[in-house]
Amino acid sequence: MRVVIADHPLITHKLTVLRDKHTPPPTFRLLVEELMMLLGYEATRDVRVEAVQIETPVAPTAGVRLSQPAPLIVPILRAGLGMLDGMVKMLPTAEVGFLGMKRDEQTLQPETYAERLPDDLSGRQCFVLDPMLATGGSLAAAVEFLFARGAEEVTAVCILGTPEGISALRDQVGDRSATLVLGALDQGLDEHAYIVPGLGDAGDRLYGTV
Ligand code: URA
Repeated sequence: MRVVIADHPLITHKLTVLRDKHTPPPTFRLLVEELMMLLGYEATRDVRVEAVQIETPVAPTAGVRLSQPAPLIVPILRAGLGMLDGMVKMLPTAEVGFLGMKRDEQTLQPETYAERLPDDLSGRQCFVLDPMLATGGSLAAAVEFLFARGAEEVTAVCILGTPEGISALRDQVGDRSATLVLGALDQGLDEHAYIVPGLGDAGDRLYGTV
């Protein structure tokens, strides 16, 4: 699995405001969308395109357009929804599927509670969105779900990640074609499996406590 840790002063600046506990939900939501667009630039570096010929007002020229089948964007509910608009802005012709994963707070194991995806993902490039790669359990389960449906390549995009999360994802992926794009790699996890220093509960900060 290829791991890309984005390194850009704009990303670090936006992340600093995002992490700040005084940042209110409207600003937090906007920053998640903006960070997704910046990370989306890295995540789509290998998106499939095909050659096309067009004419400018001045001359014919060659260019590219996104290939079919369209890429599939899969936000993991609920916090991944905060990243969806940013990614759709980067890939407006993509299709969108949904996976609901939640962590059982006792066992810390992931559970799938919702799924709306095409039955057959053969040959598809998939982009999974989840802001926090903590233990890696939910994301590893989501990525496995997509490969089991036939996805050819999976790119996971997370705003923050941990070494533990990366190794869990790497173990799950094995030698299949996967990339992980992170906004930053944090120190690790606390005893409640929160990312340190992290930003707290991304879903709560996006949407308020359920
Ligand atoms: N999920 C979150 O929202 N935050 C963490 O720190 C870990 C998991």
